[in-house]
Amino acid sequence: MNSVNIGICGLGTVGSGTINVLSRNLKEISARVGREIVVCQVGARRDNADCDLTGIDISRDIFSVADNPDVDILVELIGGTTVARDLVLRAIANGKHVVTANKALIAESGNEIFAAAVEKGVTVAFEAAVAGGIPIVKAIREGLIANDIEWIVGIINGTSNFILTEIRDKNREFMDVLQEAQKLGYAEADPTFDVEGIDAAHKLAILASLAFGCPLQFDKIFTEGIAKIEPQDVVYAEQLGYRIKHLGVTRKRNDAIELRVHPALIPEKRLIANVDGVMNAVLVKGNAVGPSMYYGSGAGAEATASAVIADICDIARTLGAGPEQRTPHYGFQSDQLRQINVLPISEIETASYMRITALDVPGVLTQITKALSEENISIEAVIQKEPAAGKDHAQLILLTNSTLEKYLDKAVEKIQALEVIAGDVVRIRVESLI
Ligand code: HSE
Repeated sequence: MNSVNIGICGLGTVGSGTINVLSRNLKEISARVGREIVVCQVGARRDNADCDLTGIDISRDIFSVADNPDVDILVELIGGTTVARDLVLRAIANGKHVVTANKALIAESGNEIFAAAVEKGVTVAFEAAVAGGIPIVKAIREGLIANDIEWIVGIINGTSNFILTEIRDKNREFMDVLQEAQKLGYAEADPTFDVEGIDAAHKLAILASLAFGCPLQFDKIFTEGIAKIEPQDVVYAEQLGYRIKHLGVTRKRNDAIELRVHPALIPEKRLIANVDGVMNAVLVKGNAVGPSMYYGSGAGAEATASAVIADICDIARTLGAGPEQRTPHYGFQSDQLRQINVLPISEIETASYMRITALDVPGVLTQITKALSEENISIEAVIQKEPAAGKDHAQLILLTNSTLEKYLDKAVEKIQALEVIAGDVVRIRVESLI
């Protein structure tokens, strides 16, 4: 059996997980691929391995892996976007295929990296960059190839989902849950990437390019995290029959697309509303298959290793074949990519949840509904909470009908300016997922 030599850079959680899974399942994997996968070199600047490295050539110089003539596939698991970019481009320049789990690198530099790879006739595979162990890249590029994709909605940041779930189920404090996610190894090295939605935006940029055949447009994504979600909004959402989830949404609208990451209310009866804890799920609407959902672990050593090894095996199967035999990076042939405009958030149409804190005096609701009706927005549901003991402000919780964001902005501006209103009006978009 011919072997395939891989060089792994980075021995953190995913690097160690990859070596562990490869050695544990080597017989099965080789039987499937028809070749043996051999880890011939590891490059790691730090010695933090949680795996058996017996018999593997270890180097502190990660670039020596990119220059090693014996390495067929370089596996980039160091993370970050500067050294990782240089490493990947060097491996490509040396004619090596690359496997990476690095969503930030692909989202921010993928266009440049894929162009370099096409030029050299090599593949850059990135299944592990989106939703960890869920084979969503393969599903969109191959399994759903017959479909015109209409939209994708995903819970693609496990840390945010874990925090929202713990707040709902156990009424826990935000920071307390975030610290637990860090201990579990789910949160990014900089957890603001999780709670501010940047990590989800990295993944959404990739999903949108696969769905619509456009170059990556990470910098055009409207991004909001979960930091402003208050426990009371989670409770009121439940009372209205919704769950609050942090979503990545991309949707085709005529000649443009929506690209947005933000918390949203979704009807609790939808399957995706019941994806809890650190789990991820991606719901894809294709015009032939209809909606299909992909669920699983979005992070973790062995779940991510599962996706990394799947990419290694894909490349190993076609090693020696021409580039035309391989699945193109975006799923579309590189000369068929198209520039697609991203709609500004003001042109997005959704229903909205609003929580308004107002003086408990006659006529307040009339003033609020007047501001909404002037923008042609109607109210679908309303809950009023009496002022707490000793307080004179009541909470009004409204669900509006679907409207363009720019009209809601105007209505909120008017409501906010009313004398009877205290504090900021809270708004959360509603996704009905149909
Ligand atoms: N920080 C990420 C998450 C890890 O919480 O989903 C996987 O990309």
